[in-house]
Amino acid sequence: MGRMDVVRAAWEAGTVIPAFNVPHLPMLAPIVQAVIDQDAFALIETARIEWLTFECYGPAAVREAFERFSDPQHVRLHLDHVPVVAEDDEAVDYLPIITQAIHLGYDSVMIDGSRLHLDANIAATRQVVCVAHDAGIPCEAELGAILREGAGPLPPYAELFESGLGFTDVEQAARFVAETDCDWLSVAVGNLHGAVSKAFKDRKKTTARLNLDHLARLRAATGVPLVLHGGSGIPRTYVLEAIQRGIAKINVATEVRQAFEEGLRSGGSLEAAKAAVYERTTWLIRDYFGVAGQRHQLLEASS
Ligand code: 13P
Repeated sequence: MGRMDVVRAAWEAGTVIPAFNVPHLPMLAPIVQAVIDQDAFALIETARIEWLTFECYGPAAVREAFERFSDPQHVRLHLDHVPVVAEDDEAVDYLPIITQAIHLGYDSVMIDGSRLHLDANIAATRQVVCVAHDAGIPCEAELGAILREGAGPLPPYAELFESGLGFTDVEQAARFVAETDCDWLSVAVGNLHGAVSKAFKDRKKTTARLNLDHLARLRAATGVPLVLHGGSGIPRTYVLEAIQRGIAKINVATEVRQAFEEGLRSGGSLEAAKAAVYERTTWLIRDYFGVAGQRHQLLEASS
C-alpha cells in the first residue's frame, strides 16, 4: 500500500494527529465540529471495550454517525483496540470485527496483540496487516503493556514508572516492526489507559509521566510513527516532547468522555453535555496539542 498515510505525514512533519474516542455516540458530532472549527485534522475512533461498556453500540453505529457528521477534509475514522486477548483474558474472535470495519469503510484499523507473547503477537499482527494492506489502509499495532486504571490492583504509579514495568522493549520493537510491517506502533513508556469500570470511570485519571529517553530509543529502533495511548491526563510538556520523539498519533478518551458525562449530570440535558464535549475538544486541539490550522499541511503531504 502507499505508505504516505496521514499519520506518517504528521510524523515526518514533527506534529501529531489527535485521535478522539467516542464512547457515547452523541459525542461524535461536537468533536467533529470542534475539529472543523479549529481547521485541524483528527481521527475519530472506537474501541471494542467502549462498545461493550458505554453507549456507542459498535463499529456500524459509529460509522453511521460518522457519515452523517464528518468531513473527510478534517476527520477520518479509525478502529481502535481490537484485542486478540481481552482484558478479562478471554480470547476474542478479532478478525471478523476488523474485516467488518474494513467493509464498513473505516480508514485504518488497529490489532492489539499486546497480551500475547512476542511471537504470537507478531503472527496475529502480520495477518491483520496483510488484510488491511490488501484493502489499501494502514494498520496500527501494540507492543508492551499499557496498564489500565481500575482494572485490578496496580503498584503506586511512581513505582511503576521508575521500574519501567511493561515498557515496550527496544529490541523487540525493532523485530516486531520489521516482521509485521505495521504502519504505526503503540508503545508503553509510562502512559496508562483511563478507567472504564463502573467503580473507577468517574475518577480523575492519574497524572502520568513519559520516559522520553526510552521513547527516543524506540523511535530510532523502529522507524515508524509511534502512537501514544492513554492521552488523557499527561502534562503538556511531556506530550510536546513526545511528539518531537516520534509520537504522531495520540488517543484521547477519558477526558472528553468525563466532560460529556459531567455535562449530562450538571447541565441535565444532552445539549449541555455536547457543549461540554465541544469545549473540551476545542481546548485540546487549540491549547493543549496546538494543532489548530494544520490540516492543509498534512493533507497536502499525504495526497
Ligand atoms: P485515555 O482514556 O486515557 O484518554 O486513553 C484513550 C486511549 O488510549 C484509547 O485507545
